Amino acid sequence: MVRPFRWDPERKVLHLLDQRRLPSAEVWIECAEAHQVGDAIREMAIRGAPAIGIAAAYAVVLGFVRGGGKSPGSRFEDLATALLNTRPTAVNLRAAIARMRARLESLASVSTAERVCTLEAEADRIAAEDLEANRCLGALGAGLLPGEGPARVLTHCNAGSLATSGYGTALGIVRAMAESGREVEVFAPETRPFLQGARLTAWELMADGIPVTLLTDGMVGSLLAGGDMDAVIVGADRIAANGDSANKIGTYQAAVLAKEHGVPFVVAAPFSTVDLETPTGAEIPIEERRAEEIVEIAGTRIAPEGVPVWNPAFDVTPARYITAIVTERGVARPPFADSLARLAVVLRQ
Ligand code: MRU
Repeated sequence: MVRPFRWDPERKVLHLLDQRRLPSAEVWIECAEAHQVGDAIREMAIRGAPAIGIAAAYAVVLGFVRGGGKSPGSRFEDLATALLNTRPTAVNLRAAIARMRARLESLASVSTAERVCTLEAEADRIAAEDLEANRCLGALGAGLLPGEGPARVLTHCNAGSLATSGYGTALGIVRAMAESGREVEVFAPETRPFLQGARLTAWELMADGIPVTLLTDGMVGSLLAGGDMDAVIVGADRIAANGDSANKIGTYQAAVLAKEHGVPFVVAAPFSTVDLETPTGAEIPIEERRAEEIVEIAGTRIAPEGVPVWNPAFDVTPARYITAIVTERGVARPPFADSLARLAVVLRQ
């Protein structure tokens, strides 16, 4: 199981697997400065909601290892502002920054070395908790698809080990099924325009020996109409308090088609993706990205010069299309306003 980042505690640098180069090359980027991590998040060298939250946490550490000048509080706020501006939809980034802020504020006057040590421990914890959450929600999700025969699962984008601390959310469920001895086959839409399905999901599942079939995004309807899919399982970048879930563009149409064809639609995410401060999907900010991602493929122009482009990176699936939201704290069922609130309270006790 591949992990998309490596923290070097001796040299205090963050290594990021450059996901733009996969699957043709495994290239690691060394980040010694916080702004390099910010650039890697913005340019999607590292991507996936949990993974960018973790990378941002280590970026804060780097900002204190090598940053200088200002007071710790204002240095933190500069870092936070820059990091929060990189990608607006995934709430995990905001949650990770909030945890780092709380940790910093809990420190009285301490030496720089002590401050770095504490922040580093918090970033390590965020990463470790994500891995643990994935294994736990993977096992819970696998329990939703009982049966003996091979399970056929449609996913979207990449919600696997590459998008997290490892193991994955949607693909964590698939991995848990495979580990329990269940045969499972994944259908991965290529996920235009960034091709996370074709490049990343296909690559990481093949590396783990889990059967995967690639299709284009436009084939999802025909696949679901075929009548032999057991579930659609996707990740999320932000889940609003009412269960509306933002995920990679194209998820919404899969959800509508799943309902039409009676296929369960499951969202898998760590609870850090649930944003109870955002009441509904209408309030989730949707990132719009550069036109080049659409008018070019691998650097080759495919559309006429000057054509206007619309490139939202995410869409929102209304809660009414979602069968279950699987988190490490439990499985939420409709009505999600109640079930998600219950999971939040259970944790605080
Ligand atoms: O633009 P990306 O590649 O960061 O989008 C990723 C997704 O939409 C994932 O499904 C989501 O972040 C969940 S990852 C566990």
